[in-house]
Amino acid sequence: MKEKLEQLKKEFDKAIGNSVKKEDIEQIRVAFLGKKGALTSIMKEMRDFSLEKKKEVGQMVNAMKSYIEESVFEYHKNIDEKEIATRLNKEWVDISWPAYPAQGTVHPVSTVRKELEDLFTSMGFEILDGPEMENEYNNFMALNIPEDHPARDTQDTFWLKNGMLLRTHTSPVQIRGMEKRKPPFKFIAPGKTYRNEATDASHEHTFHQIEGMVVDRDISVANLIYTLKAIISNIFGREVEVRLRPSYFPFVEPGFELDFRCQICSGKGCSVCKQSGWIEYLGCGMIHPNVLKNGGIDTDEFQGFAFGGGIERLVMMKYGIDDIRHFHSGDLRFLKQF
Ligand code: DAH
Repeated sequence: MKEKLEQLKKEFDKAIGNSVKKEDIEQIRVAFLGKKGALTSIMKEMRDFSLEKKKEVGQMVNAMKSYIEESVFEYHKNIDEKEIATRLNKEWVDISWPAYPAQGTVHPVSTVRKELEDLFTSMGFEILDGPEMENEYNNFMALNIPEDHPARDTQDTFWLKNGMLLRTHTSPVQIRGMEKRKPPFKFIAPGKTYRNEATDASHEHTFHQIEGMVVDRDISVANLIYTLKAIISNIFGREVEVRLRPSYFPFVEPGFELDFRCQICSGKGCSVCKQSGWIEYLGCGMIHPNVLKNGGIDTDEFQGFAFGGGIERLVMMKYGIDDIRHFHSGDLRFLKQF
């Protein structure tokens, strides 16, 4: 019996040594361990053995069985590894090669956003990011807009099933920013905003805003005007006249709307500025004490200004684009011009 098993081992080693494919290995496994396999028939012969012999031969047969199973496993693994190595060899990429010249172009909103970021950082502002899915507290409550406040009507909101909302403005980043810093500080927060609005040439459901917040001692409206005038003039590459008009936003007091001279007609009046010579640009004002308090700021010592406005409006004016819906159209004829 021992010789028989040794002979079987030799046959198995030879067969498996010659196998190159997984199917070959499987055939060999069946030939030895299958129902009609060589080792199985030896086991059948054991039926007539004495108990003692059964025990002795049984051990040898079991050892042989494990040997075959382990070899089969090892051979399978070797083939897998060889296959992976061949594939890696074939699909090898030289990552040190220079990339192909870029095929796309930078979106005009991204260009202006980057310009704004560079300008504000050169004036010492930090750039903050906030989530587009916001909670009601940051988007409304903490900004002095309680549940029944009419200001909510002006910001048609996309409410989500989980009770959150898509931020209707970048102002919630004011709250997030204040919570994590100690004054004095100044930051901007550019990003996407959403409103459930009927779209037309100047309204989109998805657009970009830039928010700004400065908190320090002795801050006044003069600081606000100086900062915004400098930024807008830099964007257009020439000195641009600005003006403030009183306006109402629950999170500032006093609140203003900032207009700048129409850069299409230089203030003479055209269809873009609706013959007024001015472009209504953004909302701003001195931060309401309630908002500062919600951000944990001592209002006896600190005050500040804030502003927020759409980025697309600026891009449209800078490049003479007449319809805000172009930005998300994905129309290559539009995009390739930039
Ligand atoms: N969040 C306002 C809006 O989307 C704009 C705004 C107005 C932002 C006044 C401000 C501000 O920071 O002070 O209509």
